[in-house]
Amino acid sequence: MDNTWYKEDAFYQIWCRSFKDGNGDGIGDLYGVLDKLDYIKSLGVDGIWFSPIYPSPNADYGYDISDYKNISPDYGDLDLFKKVLDEAHKRGLKVLMDLVVNHTSDEHEWFKESKKGDDNPYHDYYFWRKGKGKDGKRPPNNWLSTFEGGAWEYDKDLDEYYLHVFAKKQPDLNMDNPKVREEVKSIMRFWLDMGVDGFREDVITFISKKEGLPNGFPLPIATGIENYNKGPHIHEYLKEFRHDVLNHYDCFVVGESPMTGADDALSFTEGQDKELDMMISFDHMQADCFMTDTIATPFNLKKMKAAFTRWQKKLYGRAWNALYLENHDHPRIISRYGSEKFRNESGKMLATMCYMQSGTPFIYQGQEIGMLNNHLDSIDKFKDVVTFNNQRLFKKFGFSDKKYLEIANKTSRENARTPVQWDSSEYGGFSTAEPWFGVNPNYTEINVAQQEKDPDSILNYYRKLLKVRKENPIIIYGDYEEHYHESNEIYCYERNFNGQKALIVCSFADHTVTFRAPKGFDLTKGEVLISNYHDAPAKKDICALRPYEARVYLYK
Ligand code: GLC
Ligand code: CA
Repeated sequence: MDNTWYKEDAFYQIWCRSFKDGNGDGIGDLYGVLDKLDYIKSLGVDGIWFSPIYPSPNADYGYDISDYKNISPDYGDLDLFKKVLDEAHKRGLKVLMDLVVNHTSDEHEWFKESKKGDDNPYHDYYFWRKGKGKDGKRPPNNWLSTFEGGAWEYDKDLDEYYLHVFAKKQPDLNMDNPKVREEVKSIMRFWLDMGVDGFREDVITFISKKEGLPNGFPLPIATGIENYNKGPHIHEYLKEFRHDVLNHYDCFVVGESPMTGADDALSFTEGQDKELDMMISFDHMQADCFMTDTIATPFNLKKMKAAFTRWQKKLYGRAWNALYLENHDHPRIISRYGSEKFRNESGKMLATMCYMQSGTPFIYQGQEIGMLNNHLDSIDKFKDVVTFNNQRLFKKFGFSDKKYLEIANKTSRENARTPVQWDSSEYGGFSTAEPWFGVNPNYTEINVAQQEKDPDSILNYYRKLLKVRKENPIIIYGDYEEHYHESNEIYCYERNFNGQKALIVCSFADHTVTFRAPKGFDLTKGEVLISNYHDAPAKKDICALRPYEARVYLYK
């Protein structure tokens, strides 16, 4: 099936709990989504990616699933979901579900069964192992989880340990068991048969663990990761899913893959036999941190540009990129790579910089109105297992709780999880009841209703930007060439397609900088397709770029 429609599409990510509450209990839900479908459509996107909305004890807010073929009562039920799907399709919006199969919840029936004994048919759905040492009281290996201390949890009744590379309540599935792979296929078919258009596959590159689960290289967290990140059977299993299921539907899949470079990405996304249609890379999200958001470093524009350029160049003509700046796992982008002071300018510039590249745009709820990081005055007000795990780690390394609060306010993914700010009424119009997680107090100034009225708002800029992309094949299909990669202030790249050229110029400076166009570009001759200032003055190949200015020139 030539399912390449996703190349021209753009997607909007919904993290349901904080999107819109429709029944007044303070928790976002599918009633809220239904109510906002026209709004989503109005952005100019072509589909929705739902972060997990299945039943879940919420140890990791939905990424710990206790029933893969149902909808969480917090969000509605299957009938309501079918209605959302149907209404989305009526509006020409596709729907992607989140497929989380590296692990389940410990409250999933399979896990409950697996605990009953070595002879239970579900025992081998997970990694159960005897302890080490004389008394068997040492864990089976030295692996550490990413979210919560050791990667093994002891079960007294069984006298065995189970593996969890994330939180304790997220036991890892044993994908080497063919029955588990059949379960995955059955989950895929369940949703595809209902009419969903594809999946975002959660930490999909972690699903194959090295035989024998050998000790890992010691790290402060995630020790052992080299034994399951792109493990020995990863390609085999993904091909199996592709051949047995995905190839039989008009759908596409985007895989989340931490610690994967552009070269590696090709091994998953290139060719006839490609296992994934595109990948959610982390490279470009590490320009202000080391490995993970929590270890913050000053923003380094050159590092960011180099990451984008690697993916753009390597994948061009061979595979396809997913373009994003925000999701539920990262702080807000303006607070990271832009400027809260120049929120309007930098919010628009960042969108231009990213979505004028080649790839499928993903826009996270609230990003389109330039929502910012949150500032909580106490760690008790946070909600996420990762925040608390990091608190423990930072304490170990001598950081005070006060210092850690500062770090969490800046780097925690919870910054992206505050309720969407719909208007300036109480609770930002998110709910009539007190929300499950506090609304960012800046909702009185930053909200959808206010930006709907303002032609210069970030919201209306996103609409225009997506339209520019749709109307100009060069933005979707053109090649990519970076200029001035040594600049610490400007990101400039060119696109080429069918004899046309486009020049994208973005300033990351909070002051005016002089820009000289690359050879052959006359700034007075190009058509300005979009820009975040009212005019675009230039003399031949020279112009002054104002703070966070962005311009897109087209040369026919
Ligand atoms: C992915 C999800 C993240 C989750 C983790 C474990 O990275 O995006 O939210 O916590 O996987 O499932
Ligand atoms: Ca609700």
